[in-house]
Amino acid sequence: GAPVEVDIDKLAPGDMMVVEWRGKPVWILHRTPEMLATLAKAEPGLADPASAEASQQPDYARNPHRSIKPEYLVAVGICTHLGCSPSSAFEAGNPALGADWPGGFLCPCHGSTFDLAGRVFKNKPAPTNLEVPPHKYLSEGRLIIG
Ligand code: FES
Repeated sequence: GAPVEVDIDKLAPGDMMVVEWRGKPVWILHRTPEMLATLAKAEPGLADPASAEASQQPDYARNPHRSIKPEYLVAVGICTHLGCSPSSAFEAGNPALGADWPGGFLCPCHGSTFDLAGRVFKNKPAPTNLEVPPHKYLSEGRLIIG
């Protein structure tokens, strides 16, 4: 599939956009400082906090925020269990997920949960973190995926 170019300069902090790449939905989430602060809080509960599973992201996204620029998450929005589409459950303390929920994503099919870097929580059916596709910045506000 061809690479996809995306303008992200109008994506407001806290907002997410979805683009299609190779027939897959790719999420681009503009994380606020508050959202980034949830990543450390999620860590004790994660199955692979250090992104050790090399197949799930390029090396440049093997860091706590799993991205090139901390504020932008770029991830394939397909659950690594059986391929459902997780939904955003950004808010911390989401009533459905409990008072200690730091914010992230919830897969409606079998309940896998992911933090705001797409890292899967422990003891969930999804075996790995969400995939981060190859991507780079062409300029400050323009991204190429693929
Ligand atoms: Fe997401 Fe099963 S497909 S938890």
